Amino acid sequence: MHAPIRKAVFPVAGLGTRFLPATKTMPKEMLTVVDRPVIQHVVDEARAAGCTHFIFITGRNKQVIKDHFDKQLDLESTLRARGEIELLELLEADFPDPGQISFTQQQEPLGLGHAVWCARKLVGTEPFALLLPDMLAQGDPGCLSQMMDVYNRTGGNVIGVEEVSEEEVSNYGIVSVGAEQEETFSIDAMIEKPKRDEAPSNLMIMGRYILQPQIFDVLGEHERGANGEIQITDAMIKLMESQDFRGVRFAGKTYDCGSKRGFLNANVAFALRHPNFGSEFRSDLKRLLDDS
Ligand code: G1P
Repeated sequence: MHAPIRKAVFPVAGLGTRFLPATKTMPKEMLTVVDRPVIQHVVDEARAAGCTHFIFITGRNKQVIKDHFDKQLDLESTLRARGEIELLELLEADFPDPGQISFTQQQEPLGLGHAVWCARKLVGTEPFALLLPDMLAQGDPGCLSQMMDVYNRTGGNVIGVEEVSEEEVSNYGIVSVGAEQEETFSIDAMIEKPKRDEAPSNLMIMGRYILQPQIFDVLGEHERGANGEIQITDAMIKLMESQDFRGVRFAGKTYDCGSKRGFLNANVAFALRHPNFGSEFRSDLKRLLDDS
């Protein structure tokens, strides 16, 4: 029996420069995919996978994320007075229990690895999940649930991966595939944003990780990597010297919501699967394409 994964870490400190001007005052994590903010989709994925404590690493301009996960008493009492029970239930659904959410600040923008390191006191000495909210993973079961299945059998560190085209490998962390075992494989190397001809495969690290707490010791060395930033991939490469890393090919599709096109694709893909209006939306989309 491996230590259960109870804590999910969400780094939300990024500036969202790829999405200006939309993100001038609005955090990119609060942009809406169909009917809820991107961050809500990702928190829902972690909850569905069994996580019970949600840890946010925030930066400047992120108060609205805190507000989103807080009770809005004025709104609730107005809805109650109007008898809007369905809407009230929508707000209540999956609302975190008191104490299930924690926030901490990344005080300086020193990179993703540094942001994760800022969560060390909140995570403590147990393995945890790390979810990058830019990356919206559409799958059933969700990506982290698929990874949990593997983790519960193997323990160690587990990384979600997905195929990308050759042109895209230099945008992501890329893994090298070692021995295959059932539907997973052992990762024998990783490289952050490789040049096309240096990429050991076309499997990108798609923003979902189950990590052992020793990653914090490595991150605590504050070694700078690409762009002069402290990189989570560099820390994992170091940890690979002493711990196992397994890759799980995500059965689903990931949308990079930090980019405008990825975000638009996510909206269409999630709308097509919406339980209330997916099929109507499919007809709308056909009509739009025919008319364009
Ligand atoms: C980060 C990781 C990278 C991963 C990517 C997924 O890069 O460092 O390995 O593939 O997220 O989005 P970033 O997007 O922060 O540059």
